[in-house]
Amino acid sequence: METSPDAGVTRRAVNPAESRRASRGWWDADADAYQAEHGAFLGDVDFVWCPEGLREADAHLLGDVAGKDVLEIGCGAASCSRWLRTQGARVVASDLSAGMLRHADAGSTRSGVRVPLLQADAAALPFAQGVFDVVCTAFGAVPFVADSGRVMREVFRVLRPGGRWAFSITHPMRWVFLDDPGEGGLVAVHSYFDRRAYVEQDEARVPTYVEQHRTLGDRIRELVAAGFVLDDLVEPEWPDDHQGTWGQWSPLRGRIFPGTAIFVATKPA
Ligand SMILES: C[S@@+](CC[C@H](N)C(=O)[O-])C[C@H]1O[C@@H](n2cnc3c(N)ncnc32)[C@H](O)[C@@H]1O
Repeated sequence: METSPDAGVTRRAVNPAESRRASRGWWDADADAYQAEHGAFLGDVDFVWCPEGLREADAHLLGDVAGKDVLEIGCGAASCSRWLRTQGARVVASDLSAGMLRHADAGSTRSGVRVPLLQADAAALPFAQGVFDVVCTAFGAVPFVADSGRVMREVFRVLRPGGRWAFSITHPMRWVFLDDPGEGGLVAVHSYFDRRAYVEQDEARVPTYVEQHRTLGDRIRELVAAGFVLDDLVEPEWPDDHQGTWGQWSPLRGRIFPGTAIFVATKPA
């Protein structure tokens, strides 16, 4: 079959429905490969915030979760939720993708630590107002939704007053560079201010993978507009003894500039 020049990688605007459809299809199809590549690094019962390897056990960004109601969105295989369960939290692990949730179920069986699993879009959470103390995600949902402001408002709605919201994403400044862990990824080639989505599309220009870029200021503005107070913005440094790579994250780049941003915010009491 002849390949249309429209197929391939581009930067363009993508609406929320297109973005959701692409994410669901992509993560269903990619779930096995993602777990095969990253499952060992993430562990079955462990909360790893980012490719730099920062763990919640060391960072304490969520505070003491014992006895708290916690929702993880974009949970993937839900290793974070299982770790939170072992810390005494009552956890619900949610994700858009049934493929990823199948891995979450397998992880529960392997580890013997079970948490309730829910298929849900983070932009339309099927919960009443004010039922969680903590909502969190490591690289889940937020980078993949066209209307991330809506996710912020949904998380705000389901949190109790005083509740905490923490999420990690690719550091916005990484969008300036090529997706390359080597020397090629050290040269600035894109505008930081270009908010068009990174899109992989088929011959009919239907998006098959979508990742959304916002600037640091955009992310903070979305949090504040939803009603949150920003407590911290963590930029994990690359550990000297960490030789692993994860896609475009590598020791070479990690020593020079940040690869991850973790936002920690509170719903005012
Ligand atoms: C990079 S993976 C991260 C998974 C897991 N948190 C981890 O650390 O491995 C991104 C996850 O976000 C999920 N996701 C994408 N869009 C979503 C949405 N709109 N609502 C909920 N989850 C979504 C994907 O299905 C996928 O499991």
